[in-house]
Amino acid sequence: MTLWNCFCYLWLYFSDSCTSSDDFDIELDEMELVATGYLFYYSRVNRPQRKSPPTICTYLKDLLEGPVEDCRDLLRMDKHVFHKLSEILRGKGLLRDTPSVLVEEQVAIFLSIVGHNQRIRVVQERFQRSCETISRHFNTVLKAVKSLSCEFLQPPPLETPPEIVNTKRLYPYFKDCIGVIDGLQIPAHLPANNQSRFQNKKGILTQNVLAACTFDLQFIFVYPGWEGSVEDSRILRAVLDDPNQNFPQALKGKYYLVDRDYTNTEGFIAPYPGKRYCLHEFRGASKMPKNAHDLFNHRHNCLSNIMQRSFSILKTRFPILKSAPQYPFHVQRDLVIATCALHNFIKREDGIHDWLFATGAEDAALVEEPCGKEEEEELQLLHLDSTPVELVADSLCGMTS
Ligand SMILES: *[C@@H]1O[C@H](CO)[C@@H](O)[C@H](O)[C@H]1NC(C)=O
Repeated sequence: MTLWNCFCYLWLYFSDSCTSSDDFDIELDEMELVATGYLFYYSRVNRPQRKSPPTICTYLKDLLEGPVEDCRDLLRMDKHVFHKLSEILRGKGLLRDTPSVLVEEQVAIFLSIVGHNQRIRVVQERFQRSCETISRHFNTVLKAVKSLSCEFLQPPPLETPPEIVNTKRLYPYFKDCIGVIDGLQIPAHLPANNQSRFQNKKGILTQNVLAACTFDLQFIFVYPGWEGSVEDSRILRAVLDDPNQNFPQALKGKYYLVDRDYTNTEGFIAPYPGKRYCLHEFRGASKMPKNAHDLFNHRHNCLSNIMQRSFSILKTRFPILKSAPQYPFHVQRDLVIATCALHNFIKREDGIHDWLFATGAEDAALVEEPCGKEEEEELQLLHLDSTPVELVADSLCGMTS
């Protein structure tokens, strides 16, 4: 790269002087020089690539050659996912090797910051880099990953998700459900004059994030940066009113699930108001659903919980989201987008083996399948009252009260 730049400069320099020079002999010499530079460049480029570039720092080299656990601990992903991510960022020209810091090291610096609540000094010592180098690469990698978010955050698939199809208690009732929408509160750091609007109901400074996710734990839409005091439903309305947000709207007949803080509108189904909704309200033998509305709310909540699971994996992987880091607010906002993009990337590349997604998959069943007496009772409920399918249809028509 550097060599190529040298050559380009040489070329620019001489081609400039060529136009102003009227001495033919000198011009010929210059052309020779340029041609030599060209050949030299090619001879370098066509050489076989060195296995490990000389500038990779020993710390990272040891880490990538060492035990899997160490790599997960520092980089928050497995080695092959890390290499693929670095390759993509380099391949798309979003990051470049610098003479002293390879793309891999830049990405590792970023990941070690977002993956731990550590002081920059610790990162500095680990990578043996100056504070300036660390923060410069942190910012360039953040920008690069953020710019990949359009690619990593995809609209939900059109067909009914297998997580629903394969669950008797959900299928066919929720066959047209494409995802879940909810607001996430992320601790924020703000200067004193901005604090009041960012205080949520509990008085904690937060940014409110509107997020949508699918049943395979991937984010499909993220809109961070709202003041913690703003209501979730207002954010959703703002997003829907702004075509620039490119929110993946539900096609006709399809819908997202939203919780009690939102209202039922076309494409968004909330639980029945005034009925039990939270799962703890249903715990215990005597507290099982008593009518079809109850049953609907219970299933609705089971499904909606997927958002909490995605979010919990996201925060466990990237603890920076829990720590209200002292970065400018726009950086705190971009961090949400970048970490969600990485979350999706890891799910797609390594969904089965990734240790965090794998733990999440252990309790992956959205709801337990009914059996015996319980199943009979539920079936009776369904016949007694309207079925969940009809309830969903009612909601779609806005007929619920
Ligand atoms: C903080 O307040 C200043 C002045 O009122 C405003 O320009 C700025 O956008 C605010 N920052 C945030 C993150 O809201």
